[in-house]
Amino acid sequence: MWYNAGMELYFAPMEGVTDYIYRRIHRRFFPGVDRYFAPFLSPTQNHVFSPRELRQVLPANNEGIPLVPQLLTKNAGDFLWAARALADMGYEEVDLNAGCPSGTVTAKGKGAGLLADPDGLRRLLDGIFAAAPAAVSVKTRLGVRDPAEFERILAIYNDYPIRRLIIHARTKNDQYTGPVRMDTFRQAMKNARMPVCYNGDVRTAADIRALGEELPGTAAVMIGRGLAADPALVSRVKGQTVAPDALRRFHEALCDAYCAAFGGPGSAIHRMKAIWSFMLQSFEGGAAYEKRLGKAKRWPEFLSLTEEVLRTLAPKTAEPSRFETKI
Ligand SMILES: Cc1cc2nc3c(=O)[nH]c(=O)nc-3n(C[C@H](O)[C@H](O)[C@H](O)COP(=O)(O)O)c2cc1C
Repeated sequence: MWYNAGMELYFAPMEGVTDYIYRRIHRRFFPGVDRYFAPFLSPTQNHVFSPRELRQVLPANNEGIPLVPQLLTKNAGDFLWAARALADMGYEEVDLNAGCPSGTVTAKGKGAGLLADPDGLRRLLDGIFAAAPAAVSVKTRLGVRDPAEFERILAIYNDYPIRRLIIHARTKNDQYTGPVRMDTFRQAMKNARMPVCYNGDVRTAADIRALGEELPGTAAVMIGRGLAADPALVSRVKGQTVAPDALRRFHEALCDAYCAAFGGPGSAIHRMKAIWSFMLQSFEGGAAYEKRLGKAKRWPEFLSLTEEVLRTLAPKTAEPSRFETKI
């Protein structure tokens, strides 16, 4: 599979999925991801990480993983405190979340809520870049309601030495569905002064290849749901060796690790069901298992259903890229 080797491939942050346990096991079975972005931490005014947050970013828990921690805040002082703590742990880059579309987050002016107030965004970036102890990347949406908002937003980003700008090519109101806004992304690629990373709806190797061919200036592609659905996607594209039974062993390692970390299968089952809700999408006929798996209450029932999927369903065969026609 040819792909534009100059284009890096990143695992998107996914709260409730790509925690440190998942990342470690993913990397063991499916090498090749250039960077993992950690789900956001929310630094508060107390300037302490909770034990749960600390576990996610402790270097000992992320050994051998090229990791970029992410912060969700609208307060420059809180960002700088957390970025300093992360820099002291050895992180070279910290990401600002300007994309989370959840109502509770945006109502407080955070995540994609930052985009509703361009002057506030500029003040935040002024504060951050006045004293940033590490490189800062930004993961952004195109705007709140209308992708046309991005022209003004990008003009602001362009005034700062942002390490990389990751663009989820949707607005806040688009949430996670509907067509990605390729025209606006293309325009942004032309006008951005920093390296740009594309994000949104990349599902297949053909999608990655199409983006590499059509948008050769893209520094990187970030993949979330597509990689959670098909954990081998990046390894395959990069020609990395993946064992034929890697998915089964990945699943087994996750089961063991979450049972150990969460104190037993009663809690681990919720996390494993969330992971499988994505993985089912990469099997022919996987949709038929969604409800059954969702309803599984007990661990043995969960294990026998997932075993049935692994044993009887075929992985989806390559589909044509949806990007070839969009671009
Ligand atoms: C369950 C879930 C959790 C997510 N958590 C985060 C997060 O913590 N930080 C963030 O910037 N984006 C988060 N996202 C957004 C993804 O990183 C990504 O931008 C989005 O899913 C679009 O990319 P995709 O189509 O490749 O999944 C999350 C998305 C999902 C579905």
